[in-house]
Amino acid sequence: MNSRIRNLKAYPMDRLVKAKEELKAAGKKIYDFGTGDPKEPTAEFIRRALIEAVPEVSQYPTVKGRKDLRETIANWFKNRFGVELDPELEVIPTAGSKEAIFHFPLVFIDTDTEKRRVIYGTPAYPVYERGTLFAGGEPYPVELRYEDSFLLRLDRVPRSILEETAIVWINYPHNPTGAVAPLSYLEETYGICREYEIILCSDECYTEIYFERPPHSLLEVGKEGAVVFHSLSKRSGMTGYRSGFVAGDREIVQTYLKYRSSFGVASPDFIQQAARAAWSDEEHVKERRQIFKEKRDIFVKFFKELGLEFLYPEATFYFWVKLPEGISSEEYALHLLSYGIVISPGEFFGKGGEGSFRIALVPTLKECQEAVKVWKIAHKEFMEKKR
Ligand SMILES: Cc1ncc(COP(=O)(O)O)c(C=O)c1O
Repeated sequence: MNSRIRNLKAYPMDRLVKAKEELKAAGKKIYDFGTGDPKEPTAEFIRRALIEAVPEVSQYPTVKGRKDLRETIANWFKNRFGVELDPELEVIPTAGSKEAIFHFPLVFIDTDTEKRRVIYGTPAYPVYERGTLFAGGEPYPVELRYEDSFLLRLDRVPRSILEETAIVWINYPHNPTGAVAPLSYLEETYGICREYEIILCSDECYTEIYFERPPHSLLEVGKEGAVVFHSLSKRSGMTGYRSGFVAGDREIVQTYLKYRSSFGVASPDFIQQAARAAWSDEEHVKERRQIFKEKRDIFVKFFKELGLEFLYPEATFYFWVKLPEGISSEEYALHLLSYGIVISPGEFFGKGGEGSFRIALVPTLKECQEAVKVWKIAHKEFMEKKR
């Protein structure tokens, strides 16, 4: 077995899935705030686009993807962020953003050189670390702090480390904290990466789930040395379709394209046609934002009532909640689990997660309303036991 990955813990979500299965088998009503996979139906016109696109004979899709989809994406990007993308050279449709994030270091880390570090913030979505390890790179996690609004501060990373860095990952709006980055932060971070000839990768799969101002894209700051990863999973409720795109620096995008044929992850043609329908419409996204906003407001009120500290989510469908001093999030999560409430202990997202937990606003609005009632009882019991 590959020794670099031998010591990796079970994929955090796998452990949650197992615990949930046991609860389900016991016939318990479950309020699942664990995995970020919401249950709102995919818009009807998108499903129809998929069905109508399924051909009698289905052949291999191209890695480059359909021209009409790349054009639609470029058009969407221009309207949303004011940035022109050349659909021929600067956009690749992907099978969701996870695979694109995971595979990226395989192409862009040269393991025969010193410059093979990959910097990312922690707590984090686990795939930045995993992709780095599988590709033979050296992970360099930087702990994100509440005082910095969970922004990854490259200006505090030693110069010697930056000189050895090939890739930096940023992810705003952020999973798991919901933090959003101002444009000035993107400018500063981009500037540092340019200075050290580092590829700056921005995972932007949550830019469309916002409740206040629309978040920025890294490409508004610059394209050279910058790559962004987008997805329909959260924006359009299409996690099961596996559809996203990579865009940015044309030299990097073209190099990535050349080697992606090795991976066998080209997005199926009929999925691309459904994706084209999804990127062409904003109404269904507005409706989704409204639903998540209503759920968010339930939990803003609820966590305030419990007296728990949390980062007020301006975007994403996550809450990052701090537990009182001395309470382990694993212990709290296990207690809630006995009431059928599934949350993710902060440790699941790496260092810096201890003492916090994440909820994903996945259950329906009605279930959220029910869940807070159950949670309130569970919380009271937990705190009384602790006293
Ligand atoms: C930060 C982040 N990036 C990427 C992804 C992957 O999304 P997908 O592969 O569905 O596009 C997720 C999914 O939860 C995520 O939270």
